[in-house]
Amino acid sequence: MGSTINTVELLASAFIWLIALLVIAAGVMFVIDRFQTADAIRRNFPVIGRFRGVFTRLGEFFRQYFYAMDREEMPFNRAQREWAYRAASGGGNTVAFGSTRNLAVPGTPIFVNAPFPPLSDQYARTEPLMIGPGTRQPFLAPSLFNISGMSFGALSRPAIEALSHGAREAGIWMNTGEGGLSEAHLDGGCDIVFQIGTAKYGVRNAQGGLSDAKLQAVAAHEQVRMFEIKLAQGAKPGKGGILPAAKITAEIAAIRGIERGKDSLSPNRHAEAGSFAELLDMIGHVRAVTGKPVGIKTVAGSEAVFREFLETIVDRGAASAPDFITLDGGEGGTGAAPMPLVDLVGMSIREALPMVADLRDEYGLRDRIRLIASGKLVNPSDVAWAMCAGADFVVSARGFMFALGCIQAMKCNRNTCPSGITSHNPHLQKGLVAEAKYLKVAAYARGVVHEVETIAHSVGVAEPRLMRRRHVRIVQANGASVPMNELRPGYSPVA
Ligand SMILES: Cc1cc2nc3c(=O)[nH]c(=O)nc-3n(C[C@H](O)[C@H](O)[C@H](O)COP(=O)(O)O)c2cc1C
Repeated sequence: MGSTINTVELLASAFIWLIALLVIAAGVMFVIDRFQTADAIRRNFPVIGRFRGVFTRLGEFFRQYFYAMDREEMPFNRAQREWAYRAASGGGNTVAFGSTRNLAVPGTPIFVNAPFPPLSDQYARTEPLMIGPGTRQPFLAPSLFNISGMSFGALSRPAIEALSHGAREAGIWMNTGEGGLSEAHLDGGCDIVFQIGTAKYGVRNAQGGLSDAKLQAVAAHEQVRMFEIKLAQGAKPGKGGILPAAKITAEIAAIRGIERGKDSLSPNRHAEAGSFAELLDMIGHVRAVTGKPVGIKTVAGSEAVFREFLETIVDRGAASAPDFITLDGGEGGTGAAPMPLVDLVGMSIREALPMVADLRDEYGLRDRIRLIASGKLVNPSDVAWAMCAGADFVVSARGFMFALGCIQAMKCNRNTCPSGITSHNPHLQKGLVAEAKYLKVAAYARGVVHEVETIAHSVGVAEPRLMRRRHVRIVQANGASVPMNELRPGYSPVA
């Protein structure tokens, strides 16, 4: 009896102390909030005003898990993410009962089914495609779907390792992004596209220009199949790469040749390429030094600019052309970028790809310049649409992040990515076991290609690249769909 009373007394006094502490803490916060000048809400509503920030942060979490509908979120909705997770897990591709997709949304692609599709033994299969046939070491690229540029720095070491091994397993290429080439990239033995960013990390000389010796050293790796000169990426055209100081480890600083402790900012463009003529010089130089296919990565802003570029190529001769153009859409992702650029600069891939494909063909460069498309092309229907529009290849960054386990926490620019994909915090990286994740990367890539082949089969062609614009209808604002070949006026030879 006595000990029960003691326990009750103890609990009561602990409770009183707790209340007293809370009252004191609230009092301190009240004084701080009332007298600070930075935040009007906290100044006018001391203590209570603090809940606004907490609820705003929690709202992101609750919407994703409880309130957002399957097709609602941005940049990727749950249905898009779930498809990638399922493919990465090697799960079956069948769903039950019917589509949850609203087919009246303008822009929705509706593929045109063949009345008599080929039999199963004539199933559509992707053929390898040659890039840069005129170079000393052309690249016969096996897969139509590959990994887009993401630097070691934006991504963690285990993420790069998993991508490298997964790419090897699936027979796809991996682009280094602008952070240079590391052991982690080479680890899995996959085909690699080396990206030359505007800071030229990994191939820079003492004056900040291109080092031919370093270019040759990179090209000496048999795995490095192509070089991509980055002019722009969709999320931030006109702005160089940004790697926040918090994400610069000693290893990353050494690979890039940069200082620790401050943000690493790449120049907005290559100093030696201020015109199309200079750009062609640069492409020719890198090709001569490395002997491998060289292309550019860019974003479309207008038709006139592409015409000028293609005219410059035609004037010089087709041999001067880039071996490929990677066309990124304004909807593309990034490790870090200013919001106005992410939101509103650069044409969407849905508009830019048909335009650039038409222009390339109009200038007679269809077989000379391979077109690689990216920009939220993470599910098979997106990739199949791009093939119909005129792409030779599709690359994805965020699709492969989903395969690695990305939950779209939108924290790539901090060092706090909960899945360890973009964080260099060893504690968070523990969750990303490269030895297991690489299988997911490979399964996702195979899943996308297989489903694109399924669509190709359904429209009645033997290879996905034989899909044409007449094979897809695009839903218009009035809800009716129109064959894609009837949408862009003028020259449209692929239709
Ligand atoms: C984390 C992250 C890092 C990226 N780093 C680079 C880079 O170094 N160089 C580059 O050209 N693009 C970079 N990108 C852009 C992607 O390569 C790609 O162009 C863009 O995200 C569109 O593809 P997606 O919609 O499939 O993600 C990055 C994107 C992400 C999400």
